[in-house]
Amino acid sequence: MACSDKYYIYHGLLLPSIAHSNESLKYMEKFQVQDNDIFAITYPKSGTTWMQEILPLILNGGDLTPVQTIPNWDRVPWLEETRAALVMDKIPAPRTMVSHMPYHLMPASFFSSKAKAIYVTRNPKDVVVSSFHFHQMASFLDDPGTFDEFVDKFLAGNVMFGKWTDHVKSWRNTDMGDRIMYITYEEMVQDLQGAVQRMSQFLGRELSAEALERVANHCCFKNMKTNPMSNYSLVPQDIMDSKKSSFLRKGTTGDWENHFSPELEAKFTSTIREDMKGTNIKLYWDE
Ligand code: A3P
Repeated sequence: MACSDKYYIYHGLLLPSIAHSNESLKYMEKFQVQDNDIFAITYPKSGTTWMQEILPLILNGGDLTPVQTIPNWDRVPWLEETRAALVMDKIPAPRTMVSHMPYHLMPASFFSSKAKAIYVTRNPKDVVVSSFHFHQMASFLDDPGTFDEFVDKFLAGNVMFGKWTDHVKSWRNTDMGDRIMYITYEEMVQDLQGAVQRMSQFLGRELSAEALERVANHCCFKNMKTNPMSNYSLVPQDIMDSKKSSFLRKGTTGDWENHFSPELEAKFTSTIREDMKGTNIKLYWDE
């Protein structure tokens, strides 16, 4: 069901209509997941673009060609977006995809497959900061208003892909067993090489020491920021205005401290804790 010209509503979730439609969601629902497919799952602004860089490098044994020649949205497409139907056939097996969908809205064939998923979580305070700046530069999203106003919308789930807590709860509660790996954005910032190594082991594609170093070096923030295939500079300015904010903006942990007042931080933390009550999910940045 379409809602405003900017959002399409799907099972109660706001999805940007620039990339989501009846057809794209139908495509996702009917998608035939293969046993060797690999998914990187994220709530928006948690490291999706980073995973679109890391996965092809791991699967190609550290060969930089795909990430230097194919835009991120075509090399590791979003399953739910309109481009998926256009590019999926061109992706070599094992196919890699990203998705912002909550677990229960994944295609039916996902649940009966042996496909693997890597779920990336990021400190929600940094997620909301990153999202706020993204809303300022992306003309296809609502104007975020003030930061405090945007935080209220985020906590209420009136933002793309709904509540952060619902997303995390859905993916932390799967019955996927050893087919799912959990990693945080913070772990990736702290030790990228270690994170890439863990992911490559999980995917059964261990890299040589030399390849591992090359991948981690290529995927550092500074290098990705200058890669036109990954930094969104190919997108016209009237859609993403890099003069307002860069897509690869800061790439750090803890930028929330530059945005939250103590009162806002207290409200944010208590709301997230309340939403997560009774789940046993440990949010290590909130201790
Ligand atoms: P900031 O806005 O805090 O800089 P997504 O790709 O899910 O939309 O997430 C975007 C966020 O991931 C942005 O955060 C972006 O800078 C960050 N990011 C992307 N690549 C990164 C990298 N190589 N290292 C650190 N952060 C990265």
